[in-house]
Amino acid sequence: MRLCVIAGDGIGREVTEVAVEVLTALLPGLQIMEHEAGWDTFCRTGTALPEATLASARACKAVLFGAVSSPARKVEGYRSPIVALRRALDCYANLRPTRSLPLAAGRPDLDLLIVRENTEDLYIGEEQSDGETATAIKRITRHASMQVAKVAFELAARRARQRLCIIHKANILPLTDGLFRDAARAAGANYPQVAVDELLVDTAALRLVQAPQAFDVLLAPNLYGDILSDLAAGLNGGLGLAPSLSVGQGVAIAEPVHGSAPDIAGQGIANPVAALLSAAMLLRHHWQLPVKADALESAIRQLLSAGIATADLGGTASTRAFGRAVLAQLAR
Ligand code: NAI
Ligand code: MG
Repeated sequence: MRLCVIAGDGIGREVTEVAVEVLTALLPGLQIMEHEAGWDTFCRTGTALPEATLASARACKAVLFGAVSSPARKVEGYRSPIVALRRALDCYANLRPTRSLPLAAGRPDLDLLIVRENTEDLYIGEEQSDGETATAIKRITRHASMQVAKVAFELAARRARQRLCIIHKANILPLTDGLFRDAARAAGANYPQVAVDELLVDTAALRLVQAPQAFDVLLAPNLYGDILSDLAAGLNGGLGLAPSLSVGQGVAIAEPVHGSAPDIAGQGIANPVAALLSAAMLLRHHWQLPVKADALESAIRQLLSAGIATADLGGTASTRAFGRAVLAQLAR
């Protein structure tokens, strides 16, 4: 078994170090292939996603991605490597679960899954500006909408509540978001056991704050899925806890929802739980090792309920200390 590890920038490096150690303990035969991507790589080499990194990700079929820094201004030649990687590997669905953890900081009643379309929408990066007027293309295709919807319905059918809510803004964007909604509904026709609902994205944000326990699976186009999943992470104690897995045609990318967190990078205090839970998703969904995934998730829960946590959760553990505690818990 092989894993392509792309640590990236900032805390991406700190949290992947811990996740790799834990995965290696769980899978002693695992071969780790470390590769670079991100802003530092771009500054040094002129490309944010080197060919060798992409080739390794393809060959390994499993990727652990930390986080990268992307400038919030136009930089000639730079494109976010994670957006490019998802597209290049055709990881068209991003699974972003939020489940309550034993923490006072989070709500106790969360068990939802956001399935985010991962290849199109405003993330295609087609922008133009003459300095006075700027335009971005929002591209939605029936094909991409249907294929992500199939993943979402398949997962909803296997969950206890079997409910799926399609998120859109078709009242303002009837052609693009309307197509997403209609394609999703068409894909759902094959899953009569799943109760389908739809909500405008702004209302979905309101309801997520007011009554998140009412949600089971949410299916969203790329941008709304990105935003709502940070909101869901906030309900659960923060970005340091939010995992994700990008899936599609046989390659999977485990990627915490958070970014490179320049405000805390280099201090050794980043919360590795998001990366560890992403690794657990890789174990469960990609490598079909549910027992190992359960062991990792339950070790994390036990530590958190014992008050062992990083500073974002009010604890005193460093990133590495939390990692060592996970290893010790797994060895018990
Ligand atoms: P961010 O997710 O990096 O940080 C937001 C806030 O959450 C910060 O206060 C940070 O300290 C905190 N935080 C995030 N992860 C944490 C963790 N594991 N432990 C403790 N605290 C944590 O988002 P921000 O600041 O908006 O973006 C920073 C950079 O990250 C930008 O360059 C952005 O483009 C990039 N980014 C990259 C992503 C990726 O590589 N997948 C995703 C999101 C942002
Ligand atoms: Mg995001």
